[in-house]
Amino acid sequence: MEPLTILCVASYHKGGEFLREAKRQGARVLLVTSESLRGADWPADSIDEIFYVPDQQKRWRLDDFILGASYLAERLPIDRIVPLDDFDLEKASALREHLRVPGMGETTMRYFRDKLAMRMKAQEAGVPVPAFVHVLNDARIRDFCARVPPPWVLKPRHEAGTIGIRKIAGADELWAVVGALGDRRSYYLLEQFVPGDVFHVDSIVYERDLRGAVASRYGTPPFDVSHSGGVFTTCLLERGTDQEVTLQVFNRRLLDALGLVRGVSHSEYILGEDGTWYFLETSARVGGAHIAELVEAATGVNLWAEWAKIEIAGGKTPYETPRFRPDYAGLIVSLARQEWPDLTVFDAPEVVWRLEKRHHAGIIVRSERHARVIELLDAYARRFVDEFTATLPMGDAPAD
Ligand SMILES: Nc1ncnc2c1ncn2[C@@H]1O[C@H](COP(=O)(O)OP(=O)(O)O)[C@@H](O)[C@H]1O
Ligand SMILES: [Mg+2]
Repeated sequence: MEPLTILCVASYHKGGEFLREAKRQGARVLLVTSESLRGADWPADSIDEIFYVPDQQKRWRLDDFILGASYLAERLPIDRIVPLDDFDLEKASALREHLRVPGMGETTMRYFRDKLAMRMKAQEAGVPVPAFVHVLNDARIRDFCARVPPPWVLKPRHEAGTIGIRKIAGADELWAVVGALGDRRSYYLLEQFVPGDVFHVDSIVYERDLRGAVASRYGTPPFDVSHSGGVFTTCLLERGTDQEVTLQVFNRRLLDALGLVRGVSHSEYILGEDGTWYFLETSARVGGAHIAELVEAATGVNLWAEWAKIEIAGGKTPYETPRFRPDYAGLIVSLARQEWPDLTVFDAPEVVWRLEKRHHAGIIVRSERHARVIELLDAYARRFVDEFTATLPMGDAPAD
């Protein structure tokens, strides 16, 4: 029998564990990636063929990809198309529509990629979102400014990692910024800034059934980490607490409303200071900033590997939900002024992972006890500030 052929699309270097698991499951694994990533450390043993698309800073011309993949399909039947990075969702859906390959089409893809589309869809379904307006029609923008007290956030509809997001103090500033955007303004939305804590839920869905979801809270909202500098932390919530249960219900409602059929999702929520939960954003991918490692440390479940199993099952064969070990974990990441910071000084037995990346420091701690994770995270995050970040102006701490 012909093996199932899975075409993975990765304009960035991502998803090694997806590729490995797909191969372990017996699939023929094809990878399409950026020409500039030719030297990247892909798991060669798990990839049958690799193709390169010319890129400008990882951006491709869609037509290069569509024509290249279509040419490939003359020789190999393509059964699945999977985008490994957020920026690859459009490409993957466009190719599925073109080759008529099953999977998420362009309409649903937008709910997981376009921050305007996901808000509108969530709002339609009665899911609370911060007040927002598309930066398009002058009268509607003026009406928003009159109705919603500042500050506001102006954000691009298709970015990630806090790129391009800015806080706006009032109407004068807004019109100046909007003027400078010129004819790009329709690619933005404006919304109410909701002060509060930011949470994320990382989910596995099969045939619209939520098979597992891990709820966590960022120590400092990602916007503050990237704009004011500091240490990025996130930690699983204690299971069964009111907060965790409420967030799980909210997340299930959101994924139902947006119509995720199968795959993984990293979704974010704000708990406003007034106690109201708001939907912030979602995606149909594994969370960045080492969240996959965090979830695996706590539960033993690797989201990349589960996603590969789900794509291969494809709604046609059963997918067995993995067992989520009920432990806890916390993650700390920051830039470091040292080229290779010494992480061995964080030597509690609960430290289960250390980041190896130039000018970065990162660790994950794990325990059966939530309180112990919080205690270690607090102590270590303070030491990160002193030992790694003290004199460094932060620009691009990981935050998605
Ligand atoms: N409406 C909002 N109110 C308060 N903070 C916000 C709001 N929108 C975004 N932020 C802050 O900006 C960060 C990034 O915004 P988000 O919409 O998640 O985009 P990204 O795709 O860049 O992660 C959030 O984690 C949060 O800290
Ligand atoms: Mg975000």
